[in-house]
This record gives sequence, structure tokens and C-alpha cells, in this order.
Amino acid sequence: MQLQTFEAYLEAYELSTKNPEQFWHSIAEGFIWQQPWNKVLNWNFKDPTIQWFCNARLNITENCIDRHLPQKANTTAFIFEENESSNNHLHISYQQLHDEVCRLANVLKQLGVTKGNRVCIYMPMIPQAVYAMLACARIGAVHSVVFGGFSAQALVDRINDSQCKVVLTSDGAFRGNKKIPMKATVDEALQHCPSVTHTLVYNRTGDNVAKQEGRDFDWETETQKQPASCAPVYIDSEDPLFILYTSGSTGKPKGVVHSSGGYMVYTCYSFLNVFQYQANQVYWCTADVGWITGHSYITYGPLLAGATSVIFEGIPTYPNAGRFWEVIDKHQVNIFYTAPTAIRALEAAGLDFVKPYSLASLKVLGSVGEPINEEAWHWYDTNIGKNRCPIVDTWWQTETGGILISPLAGLTKTKPGFATLPLPGIQPVLVNDKGEEIEGNNVEGNLCIRFPWPSMIRTTFGDHERCRHNYFATYTNLYFTGDGCKRDEEGYYRITGRVDDVMNISGHRIGTAEVESAIDEHEDVVECAVVGYPHDIKGQGIYAYCIVPHTTKTEAELRQEILNSVTQLIGAIAKPDKIQFVKGLPKTRSGKIMRRILRKIAEGELSNLGDTSTLLDPTVIEEIVTGKL
Ligand code: WT7
Repeated sequence: MQLQTFEAYLEAYELSTKNPEQFWHSIAEGFIWQQPWNKVLNWNFKDPTIQWFCNARLNITENCIDRHLPQKANTTAFIFEENESSNNHLHISYQQLHDEVCRLANVLKQLGVTKGNRVCIYMPMIPQAVYAMLACARIGAVHSVVFGGFSAQALVDRINDSQCKVVLTSDGAFRGNKKIPMKATVDEALQHCPSVTHTLVYNRTGDNVAKQEGRDFDWETETQKQPASCAPVYIDSEDPLFILYTSGSTGKPKGVVHSSGGYMVYTCYSFLNVFQYQANQVYWCTADVGWITGHSYITYGPLLAGATSVIFEGIPTYPNAGRFWEVIDKHQVNIFYTAPTAIRALEAAGLDFVKPYSLASLKVLGSVGEPINEEAWHWYDTNIGKNRCPIVDTWWQTETGGILISPLAGLTKTKPGFATLPLPGIQPVLVNDKGEEIEGNNVEGNLCIRFPWPSMIRTTFGDHERCRHNYFATYTNLYFTGDGCKRDEEGYYRITGRVDDVMNISGHRIGTAEVESAIDEHEDVVECAVVGYPHDIKGQGIYAYCIVPHTTKTEAELRQEILNSVTQLIGAIAKPDKIQFVKGLPKTRSGKIMRRILRKIAEGELSNLGDTSTLLDPTVIEEIVTGKL
């Protein structure tokens, strides 16, 4: 399954495009299936219908855990690096992982969870979050992890959309020198979530939290009552494994649905090949389990590969900006996978935070979530990798389930700012706005994928039409990523960023429409428009233009209230960095806001606003430019 040379990659790539079914068939044979498939692939992008390993049956946790036992019973599955205030760490072996997951799965059964039921996981970055995902998978339940930074209202939206039955949470979470309430947020949410019958609350911070008799149960008390074995429930390869909500260019976040069989095959394959993980290495992905990176490259990929990985409860800048480097030294991390925004923040903090630590254990560095600027790439390469570690700039999305375009560490020649080449099985296409394919090298266009791959999105929960419309309707017979992309003279891909109304704030995906509707909730705001603009650390910042014709408040008060509204409705990650009050917004005669112009103004490109002749009222532009923040 693991390619060893660049030539082997080229060969695999060729086979994967000439005969994809044969290619994936032989890779899938490396897993445990309760029943094999009778057809590798059945698909069309029109509906879309995507089925991999048709009619096969499996349980992914059997492949993540049981398959490694007893040989790896004492091998560390996870090193849990606790928050800074306890400064502790734990090693969790594959046997312990097995036992914990089984106990928790038994509790879920007792709470009435059965195959196909949805379970919401709203947890800090602790091993129990991973146990929770695997416990669901063990019994065929579908998990929906909600990032711990989302607000009660965001939790309500996600729980109700997929009708979750149970919520797994903790009393609170440690974050830097603060404690964040989790259970209190869940309690607030559950006032509006009739589908939820029970919660299970892990005691993390030791804070006293309210427990509702009959509804809320204590995690440890319940798991301790259960036996450490639980037979895996076998499900169809196409049965859903999880739902993960992500922002689109319009409307509320949508629940991306991932399957079981294909997701298993692709996350393991991509993990082993991109990072070139070798037995006994220590791997650390700093993502949160609330995002797809945490699903595919903390939980499933590494466990499927039998790897040892770090779960980190802390933050990069507390107690100081040396925290990552300290943890790498402490646990002798070999493979380190993080986001450009973190790299830029730590670069800004200065090399004095890097110097005290030995980074000699490092062999491979990774980057994910947003384009990495060349400056940050070189800093990472020089000061962290000491110019001897390949950097894998991994491009992918919540919807792709796994990494699609990336160097294979040590095999592919890297190039700063470039995700380089597609993995075997991935067929990227660049198209112009008319959907015509742009062939050849040294070109730029909208990035699409021509052929299915095993871990791709199957549907958006409860709304298949939305899935079709969003990803498969823009261009006929292509999956559209929403990203712009260049292909250079050697055929290397460089992702240039979103071409739709989706922002990427510190690697977090946030829709302009979501932020706008949160701002519009403020009673004095009659209309607003939100765009992203370049931000030194965050990659993109949020710029909001608001029309407030009548108010009794000062601008400072209004700003604060708008920020509060966004925090309440979405979460602090979506707070605008800049709020400009304007009299009008640039609109076309048909009433459509011209975001292109607003984006240019926010970017500071004032001299080149493009064609403004179709504007209903060109004078609004002057006022906006004059008041620019
Ligand atoms: C969007 C997907 C993939 C897991 C984390 C984000 C951007 C992601 C890269 C990269 C340039 C990147 C794209 C993509 N993106 N990785 N290596 N280079 N851009 O997942 O929240 O679904 O966001 O992140 O714009 O569409 P996500």
C-alpha cells in the first residue's frame, strides 16, 4: 500500500487512471471485510450516485483496533499531551483503546443508540473525543462532531438538522489559561433540540455542572459498569460513517455525509503515502477533532495504519509560543502536521521560542487548511525542518474526506506554495467559467475532479439536491471544489483560494452568508455584506459593511453588539475583524450585491475596482472608499 519511490508513484498513478477499479480493488484487499464487494464502483455525477465496494460489509473499528491486536496490544496508539496547567501526558495502548471504545459503545447501546442513529459529539481535544467517534462506529451509529468553539445556537442547528439522539460532551474544556464551559452550552442548546434523549458527560475540568435527572449521565460512572468488549456491528460499505457540517457559499452549514468502506480505504492509503509513516514513528496532527483533518488524520487514518499519534489538548501559544516545539522534543515527534496560520503566528513570535528545543526527531512536516505563503513555507522549512524535512502541502476539503493533491514525503520534489501532484486515483481538471477544460501547463482555472475516489462526499444530510447543486451542477460531469488553481510549467498544482463566497479564517471555513445573517440579527442593522480580506496571521480576516440608518447607539456600542451577535449565533471564530458603517452597498440593477467590488476595497485595491458601470448607484462606492478601515 505504501509507495517507495517517485517512479512507483508514477506507475501507480497511471494504473489508477487506466483501471481505477483494479487499482482500488487491490488496495481494499488489505483491510478486514466481513463480506467482500461484488463490484468495486458504481457511479454517475449527474444524480450524483457514488458507491464504492458495493455490497461489502465491514466495521471500520475492527480495522482501526482489533486488527492490530494482540500484536500491538502494548503499542501506543495515542500519546495524550494534556493541557499546560496539568503538564501531564498519558500513553494509551491499542489494547486500552479497544477497551475504552468497547465500554463506551456498550453505554451508547444502553442509552438506546442503534445502527444508523445520529450521535452528536461536542468535546474538548481529549482522547475521549476519539473514543466517542469510534464507539459510535463500533455499533454502526453515525457521529456528528461539532467543533467545541461553536456556540449553543450553532449546536442547535447541527443537532436538529440530523436529529441526533444523544450528545456526548464534557463539563468543560481547558483552553490556554481559561476554562470553557461545554455542558452549559449543551444545556442551553438542548432547550431547542427535541430529538435528544440523553447526554453523557465526561468530567474533565472538575467544574460543577447541572445534571438533568434521567437525561444526563456521568461518563465514567457509566463506562465503568460496562465490559471491555463489544462485538462490532457490520454495516454496508455505503452506510454512513459520519456527518460533518461545513460552510457553503449560501445558507446554513450543510452536513457532509461520508461512507464507511471507501472512507476507510482512502484515509489509510493517503495517510501512509503522503506522510510516509514508518513503523514506530510518532506522528502529530495539531488539528481539532471538530474538523475533517481531525477525523481523517487524527482518528481514522493513523489508527487504520496502526500508528502512534499525539493528541494535544493545548494551544500553540500558551504558556508561550514554544509550546509546539516543546511537545515535539518531549515526545520525539517524527511527523508534524499543522496549519499555515499557526506557522505564521509562531514565526511572528520569533526564533527565541524555537531555540530551546531539539527538533532533531522530525522527519516530515505537513501543512493543511489554506494556501501556505512562500514566506511561511521557508520559515517552516529552515527553522523547524532545518532544511532536511520534506514539507507536504496537502490540499483537500471536508467533502473530499482525504488528501487529494500533495507531495508524497521524500518521493515528490517539493516547491514552496505548491500542493504539487494528485495522489493516485485523483484526476484533477482545470476549467474556465464556461466549464471548458483548460489543458496543458502554465494555466489557471477552477479546480474540478473528473473521476470518483473512495472517500468523496456521498450526499448532504437530508438534502441530496443540495449536494448535487453545490458540487455537481456547476460543471457537467465534474466535481467542483470551489477553489481556484494554477498548473505550472511542470504540471504542479498551486491552489490559489476559494472562488466562491466561502472564507478561510485561520484555516476555519466560514460562509459570508452565515456571518451576514448573524449580523442582520442586530435590530439596528438593515443590511450588511461580508467579505474576506488578506490577513497576515489568519490568512483571511472578515470585513463587514453594515447599513445602520437609525440608531441611538455609538459606533463602538454597535460594533460590540454586532460581535456579540456573531459570537452567540456562530462562535467567536466568525467575529468580523473590521466593521465599517456605510450608507449603501454597491448593487447591480437587479439588486445583487457586488461583492467583487467590496472585496477589492477591503483588500485595499482602490485604484482597480473593475467595471462599475452596471452599478445602480455608483456614488456609494466613493463613500465606502472614503470610510475604509
Ligand atoms: C478548503 C477546504 C482540508 C482540511 C482542512 C480544511 C482550503 C485546504 C489547502 C492547501 C490551499 C487549502 C481550500 C479548500 N485548503 N488545504 N493545502 N492549500 N488551500 O477543510 O474546512 O473543508 O476547507 O480549504 O480552499 O477548499 P475545509
